[in-house]
Amino acid sequence: MTEHKFTPETPVKLDPPKDDPITMEQLIKCDGVQSDKLYIAIKGQVFDVTANQKSYGVGSAYHSLVGRDASRALGKMSLGPEETNPSISWDYSSLTEQELRVMNDWYMFFKNRYNIVGRISKH
Ligand code: HEM
Repeated sequence: MTEHKFTPETPVKLDPPKDDPITMEQLIKCDGVQSDKLYIAIKGQVFDVTANQKSYGVGSAYHSLVGRDASRALGKMSLGPEETNPSISWDYSSLTEQELRVMNDWYMFFKNRYNIVGRISKH
């Protein structure tokens, strides 16, 4: 897999990734309603997508990915409640190799565009 495939056309200036612990309870509030923030986690890394209201804001196409770890939903390319429910959306343990590739491609896509503001922690 080539890295440049995920490079944005216009270069994005990113901050150094942060390693602050963020709980699922805190993440769920970063949904543009309970707070102004729009966060999406992939593989436990939390991305700040607040700047992209068009794609992720309330009422937008991809709002169902926001405020949760969306690894599973992204790997399966599903926006339906069965994959985006935060109780399951983080769990990529049962994904096929192909689905894991898709998930990892999305991870690279996000990593090249959005700041990492922390990582999911249990406490
Ligand atoms: C008929 C189905 C779909 C169509 C036509 C479609 C179309 C698009 C288009 C045109 C963009 C680029 C928007 C832009 O220029 O900024 C985009 C981005 C994106 N799509 Fe889809 N999509 C579809 C399904 C899905 C599904 C099922 C998922 C995930 C489960 C998904 C996740 C995303 C994500 C995460 C982005 C990136 C937004 C960003 O951060 O810039 N899409 N899609």
